[in-house]
Amino acid sequence: MNQNIVAIDGPAGSGKSTVAREVGAQIGYSYVDTGSYYRAFTLFFHKIYKKENPTIPFSEWIKNKNLENEISKISIQTEFLSGGTNKTILNSEDVSEEIRLPEVTEEIKYLAPLRIVRDFVNQCLHDLGDKYKLIMDGRDIGTEVFPDAKFKFFVTASIDTRAERRFQELVEKGVNVDLDQLKEDIAKRDKSDMERKIAPLRMADDAILIDTTQLSKNVVINMILSKILQS
Ligand code: C5P
Repeated sequence: MNQNIVAIDGPAGSGKSTVAREVGAQIGYSYVDTGSYYRAFTLFFHKIYKKENPTIPFSEWIKNKNLENEISKISIQTEFLSGGTNKTILNSEDVSEEIRLPEVTEEIKYLAPLRIVRDFVNQCLHDLGDKYKLIMDGRDIGTEVFPDAKFKFFVTASIDTRAERRFQELVEKGVNVDLDQLKEDIAKRDKSDMERKIAPLRMADDAILIDTTQLSKNVVINMILSKILQS
């Protein structure tokens, strides 16, 4: 059993990143947002796509790329900052903001299902795991990346609650969004994450399920902390 890894998996918008960051700060584990690796990987190609400005959609364009050749040009790193915040570095550039662009979020579904992409990200995560104690959030950490993690949680919430929370977050940032559209986007992302053949989103058999629909952030943090500290 790997005592140095806490895996927190779950669907988009379940609040797992906030909780993981705060639990990590309290137990002295560095927080890694594994979605940021899929985002940065996608951003690498998104930028080339924009530069080439082809007439075909990204989904078609990416099929013609030889990923095996391109992958050696990609380096993704997490820079740990104080308070559990991170920077995502793609080829020496801070892309922490850019990876959140809606277009990038939308394009991830063409890359995240591919074995070559997942092997690349998993290698990055294992390299970190060799050096640090980590609390990671993602979709497949407890099932595929660190199936031997001692602590595994699956954090979820109803689709309405997840959409509402994301909506509030964006409103606070001054971003104008439509709640129904947000809900539809989250549902689509859930579907593609759950239905992909390789490393789909699912709860590990030995994970603890936490449905946060009716729970406050602090209650969830304390539930996770008490499970970790009592074992
Ligand atoms: O966590 P976040 O929503 O930023 O992740 C973006 C996307 O990256 C997910 O919708 C999923 O397709 C992919 N992802 C993944 N495996 C992970 C983390 C994220 O496939 N461990």
